[in-house]
Amino acid sequence: MTIDDQGAQRPAGAGEAPEASAIGAFSGEQAPDAAASAAPTAVAEREPILRARRLVKTFGRVVGLDGASLELYPGEVLAVIGDNGAGKSTLIKCLTGAEVPDEGEIWLEGKRVNFKRPQDARDAGIETVYQNLAISPALDVAANLFLGRELRKKGILGSVFRVVDQKGMRQRARDELRALGISTLQDVTVPVENLSGGQRQAVAVARAAAFGSRVVVLDEPTAALGVRESNQVLELIRQLRERGIPVILISHNMPHVFDVADRIHVQRLGKRAATITPQTHSMTDAVAIMTGAATG
Ligand SMILES: Nc1ncnc2c1ncn2[C@@H]1O[C@H](COP(=O)(O)OP(=O)(O)OP(=O)(O)O)[C@@H](O)[C@H]1O
Ligand SMILES: [Mg+2]
Repeated sequence: MTIDDQGAQRPAGAGEAPEASAIGAFSGEQAPDAAASAAPTAVAEREPILRARRLVKTFGRVVGLDGASLELYPGEVLAVIGDNGAGKSTLIKCLTGAEVPDEGEIWLEGKRVNFKRPQDARDAGIETVYQNLAISPALDVAANLFLGRELRKKGILGSVFRVVDQKGMRQRARDELRALGISTLQDVTVPVENLSGGQRQAVAVARAAAFGSRVVVLDEPTAALGVRESNQVLELIRQLRERGIPVILISHNMPHVFDVADRIHVQRLGKRAATITPQTHSMTDAVAIMTGAATG
C-alpha cells in the first residue's frame, strides 16, 4: 500500500481523491457495471443486498456526507470504521431512514428505495440496533422481542379485542433465543431492567434477527460492555451471519472489528476512503487510512 507522508497534514476537504477499494469492489464513483465486471473477487461479482451511491448530506454549512458509497453483500459482516465526525452515523442513518440524504441513491436488493423515516427502512427489512437500545426496561424479555408486533390471540379475541397471545409470544421468544444460541436468557419472563448490559444487547439483537430481517445494523454494540458480554455480542453477530443475515457493524473497537468482520469500510471526511479486509490489512493499516496517513 502507498503511504502518503503528507496525508495527515492535508486540510479537511482535500478528500477528492477517488475512492480506493483494496479488494476491487466497485468504487461507486464509476459506472457500476463496468467497475463490477472488472472486479476480480467473488464478492464483487455478486449483487450487493444494500448499496449506497454517492450520498450527500449537509447540516447547514456542515458537510456530514460528501459523496459516500457503501456496498453490503449477502452473508457478510461489514464493519464501518472512521474517526470521530467522519460520517459513520450519518451514513447509517441514511441507510436506516433516520436521515434523508440530500443527494445520492440507496438500493435494496436491486431496487431503488427512498426511506423517509425509520419505519420505512424497518418495513423493508432493515433492522437497526442503536447503542441507546430501543427496549422497554419494565417489560419482560418476550414482550420486548415483540414490541410493536405483538401476537394476538386467534379468533375474535385477537382480531376485535386485540388480546395479546402472551403464551405464544413467550414460546416463540424462547425458540428465537435458543436458535441464536443465547443460553443465558432462557427465562423470557424476566423484566429487561434486571438484565446485564450484554444480555440487553442480546435481546435487541434477537429482536432484530427474529422478524425476517434482510439486514441488521448494529451501532457500537460493544461500546459499553465488558469483555465477556462483548464476546457474547460478537458471537451473536456470527450467528446472524450463519443464518444468512448480513450485518453492518459500526465500531471504534479495532480488535472486535478485525475479529468478526469480513470486510471493513473505512469512512473519512464524509466519504469512503477504502474497503479493506482483515486478511489484507492490519489494524495499523486501518488506522493509517482512517487518519489519512495512507490510502487503501
Ligand atoms: N444533526 C446534525 N446537525 C449538525 N451537524 C451534524 C448532525 N449530525 C451530524 N453532524 C455533523 O456531521 C459530521 C459527521 O457526523 P457523524 O455523527 O456522522 O460522525 P461519526 O463518524 O458518526 O462520528 P463519531 O465517531 O464521533 O460517532 C460531523 O461533522 C457532525 O458534526
Ligand atoms: Mg457516530
